[in-house]
Amino acid sequence: MTNTTLQMNPLSAVSAAWRKGLATVGLALSCMLETGVSSAQSQPKPDWSLADMPSQSGRIFLVTGGTSGMGYEDAKALAAAGAEVVIAARNPERGKEAIARIKQEVRGAQVQFEAVDLADLASVKALGERLNATLPRLDGLINNAAVMAPPERATSADGFELQLATNYLGHFALTGHVLPLLRKSNSPRVVTLSSIAVGRGSINFADLQSEQAYNPYASYAQSKLAVLMWAFELQRRSETQGWGIQSIAAHPGVAVTELIKRGPGLDSDFGREWAKDRERYHSAAQGALPTLYAATAPNARGGAYYGPIGEEEKRGPLGLATVPAAAKDAEAAARLWQVAEQLTGVSYR
Ligand SMILES: NC(=O)c1ccc[n+]([C@@H]2O[C@H](COP(=O)([O-])OP(=O)(O)OC[C@H]3O[C@@H](n4cnc5c(N)ncnc54)[C@H](OP(=O)(O)O)[C@@H]3O)[C@@H](O)[C@H]2O)c1
Repeated sequence: MTNTTLQMNPLSAVSAAWRKGLATVGLALSCMLETGVSSAQSQPKPDWSLADMPSQSGRIFLVTGGTSGMGYEDAKALAAAGAEVVIAARNPERGKEAIARIKQEVRGAQVQFEAVDLADLASVKALGERLNATLPRLDGLINNAAVMAPPERATSADGFELQLATNYLGHFALTGHVLPLLRKSNSPRVVTLSSIAVGRGSINFADLQSEQAYNPYASYAQSKLAVLMWAFELQRRSETQGWGIQSIAAHPGVAVTELIKRGPGLDSDFGREWAKDRERYHSAAQGALPTLYAATAPNARGGAYYGPIGEEEKRGPLGLATVPAAAKDAEAAARLWQVAEQLTGVSYR
């Protein structure tokens, strides 16, 4: 098992262009270290590492987007800790490669691939049906897959803006479909990946699908704010409905993965600026630690939001992440939930 610990890199000047990029995607950070749920205030161990992860033997996890980046590291670390892991992503070839790499690195890894396109609600439903038919229960769901900032507005199979569809609506639907499996676990957790991009994100209810105006970074920030609000709302509903699920949010800071390459592109303005600083970002394995803490640490709390707390929360030791004011708006979160139910046709029961 890799023993990875978040290291605080020395603070240094952030390039003007990077700051501009952050501003564009709405990355200003508030100073508050509050979460949307009052029970979620306990501070994690700042130097928590894979060595602190308890055995996951006997636990079953589903990791979306486990073919690269943080999702891959999540799947590998969980398998190394003894869990059974299902990786769900679009491309069976990439799935096969990921499984082969994990099995090579983790002897006896119990890991399998399931194809799903989160931007296609029929595909998400089919995955839910397959899992309900084959798994005895689900102990952890890691809603990790995402697309970031495609330069041109694109739509999902169902006609929704691609980032909203993949990052939020697909995960909303998937979680609803596997809720019966989660409820069969005696300590189920749902971990949802947000981003520091939520800092200035807003939910544009009047143009949720960015049809009137498309800004790739604003749409990404909106989708990541939507998942953060949903993660808190899921915790509130789990408490009131007695589902027993702990819903926890996490973000990696900034990590070197395929997200930029496959989104705006490395030759875009954003990509070029990002690449200048890449040696200072987290590795994917470091970026995965807040998620893995949320998924496995006995002290992780439903309703919390974990991430690195150094250098504007882009890297550094583990802590409680800043929750932007917009993500604390429970009324807006309930409205967003209702919209997601309408758009996906999925209700949680
Ligand atoms: N990297 C960062 O600095 C950073 C910062 C903040 C937050 N995050 C968040 O961290 C999470 C992981 O991102 P990453 O950086 O590790 O990116 P990544 O390397 O690009 O991985 C994204 C994964 O999502 C999968 N995916 C994309 N579209 C999908 C779809 N329609 N259906 C199913 N799977 C899909 C991809 O798999 P296939 O292509 O094989 O389907 C891939 O495995 C994301 O939620 C991202 O928003 C990342």
